[in-house]
Amino acid sequence: MLVFLLVFVLIVYYLWSQRKNFRAWLKIGGPFGYPFIGVGLQFADQKKILKLMGHYKKVYGNFYSGWLGPKFLVATSDPNLIKSVLNSDGCIDKSDLFVALEYLMKNGLLLAKGSNWYRRRKLLNPAFTQPIILEFFDIYNDVVGSFMQKIEERVNSESFDFPDLLSKGVLEIACQTTMGKRVNLLNDENWKFFKHFHCELDILTTKLASPWYHNESIYKLSKLYQKEKLYVNTIHTFTKKIIDEKLEQHKNSEQLSLIDKSENDGNEFVKQKRIFVEQIFHHGVSGALTCDDIDDEVATVLLTAADTLTASTGMAIYSLAMFQDFQDKLREEIYSVFPKNLDKLDITYNDLKDMEYLDMVLHETLRLFPPIPLLFRNVTKDISLDGIDIPCGTQMVINVFNMQRDEDIWGLQAKTFNPEHFSQENHKNINPYTFIPYSRGIRSCIGIKYSQYVVKILLINLLHKYKVSTNTKLEDLKYYVSISLRLENEFDIQFERL
Ligand code: HEM
Repeated sequence: MLVFLLVFVLIVYYLWSQRKNFRAWLKIGGPFGYPFIGVGLQFADQKKILKLMGHYKKVYGNFYSGWLGPKFLVATSDPNLIKSVLNSDGCIDKSDLFVALEYLMKNGLLLAKGSNWYRRRKLLNPAFTQPIILEFFDIYNDVVGSFMQKIEERVNSESFDFPDLLSKGVLEIACQTTMGKRVNLLNDENWKFFKHFHCELDILTTKLASPWYHNESIYKLSKLYQKEKLYVNTIHTFTKKIIDEKLEQHKNSEQLSLIDKSENDGNEFVKQKRIFVEQIFHHGVSGALTCDDIDDEVATVLLTAADTLTASTGMAIYSLAMFQDFQDKLREEIYSVFPKNLDKLDITYNDLKDMEYLDMVLHETLRLFPPIPLLFRNVTKDISLDGIDIPCGTQMVINVFNMQRDEDIWGLQAKTFNPEHFSQENHKNINPYTFIPYSRGIRSCIGIKYSQYVVKILLINLLHKYKVSTNTKLEDLKYYVSISLRLENEFDIQFERL
């Protein structure tokens, strides 16, 4: 009897605590799922999340709601609502569901909350300004040169694994530009990092979408937790080694004392201060960041950069392999700036400035294959969307993937690859909130310019030297979300020397 009474009281308390959510759900509509777990069972298979969200969009439209365990979720792919969310001061924090990522990125910029995020973003913004990024062109060209040599060595061999080589090249760039450290990843054949990193992202997605894993004690009993410990260990061993070596080098040099010598410095100091790692060590010395904070920020930047850059460059190359006409057109533009007979390309910012078609190709890639297909925010104070009260504690899900493929927005060719979507004429009619691969508003990506230059330099080098082709068709591709966008298919790709 007592147990029955207790259960009854708990149920009444639960329903009472959810009353504002029920009110919002009745107005917005959406799947109810099952009592207490909501749509948890449907979302537990990460391969189904994107498909399911596409299905809900068809059934409920661009604005719907439901429960994932006790969490009330509101999802949208409506650009006007997205604009309200991304610009609301009640939606700056990442979703509570992102607690799943904490073992990996801890308290770095990507996950930081409230005033802590604001303070850190202010500290880190100066490391990503245009003048600083322009100084990285030497590094970009140098690493991409080594990457091209590796491609050349392996292009005709059976063991040529393009995604593997690409991710190593990109991480090498990230290590050199953010840490000022050469790691020689391109020469490392047996490196487990990316395999473990991708497994970790799979685990994070499953954890994020499965309400029963949101309880730390239950999660720690699961096999998933044991696996996650292994993967996180591989990843942190790598980032920690780089940080420790850099710190040692830093201590041995006179840079720390230089940094200590205040802001009215000469050029030498400014030069030292510019690179990301020098900036954060500087904040370490001033006490603004602790050693753990520095670890977290380095891991965040390296992992975020490596994953998104590999995804966007890879998908651009795959798209151009599937659509030869666009590849030819882009190569024409590349040859107009870098004649065909040039052996080594030393690309500058001025070269990139007027390469309009390259820009269109990159935008179209990020539209059709946004590396981060879903954005998650926590509503930290009551907001109103479309005249409906969305209570504090709601988890907002922004469905970038579906919006950027919506025929009502992008026309009949929405689901195919066509850089003309971003021609000058079409571009001026685009609502900025219909194209948000880097998110938008104050919490958007910090590395936009950085990433655009790296992807462009890689594409120019690859297409200057090789024709890429494939037997895979766009309509055969199957996508799933593993924090970032992934392909279920093995993508066959051939490189032919021009
Ligand atoms: C094509 C490449 C890239 C894409 C599409 C991309 C996309 C994004 C998106 C969508 C977010 C917001 C995530 C969210 O709200 O949950 C984000 C945040 C972030 N990105 Fe990028 N990113 C790219 C490259 C980079 C690079 C190269 C770096 C570093 C060098 C970087 C560093 C970050 C950081 C630190 C954040 C967190 C910012 C904050 O919360 O204040 N990203 N990125």
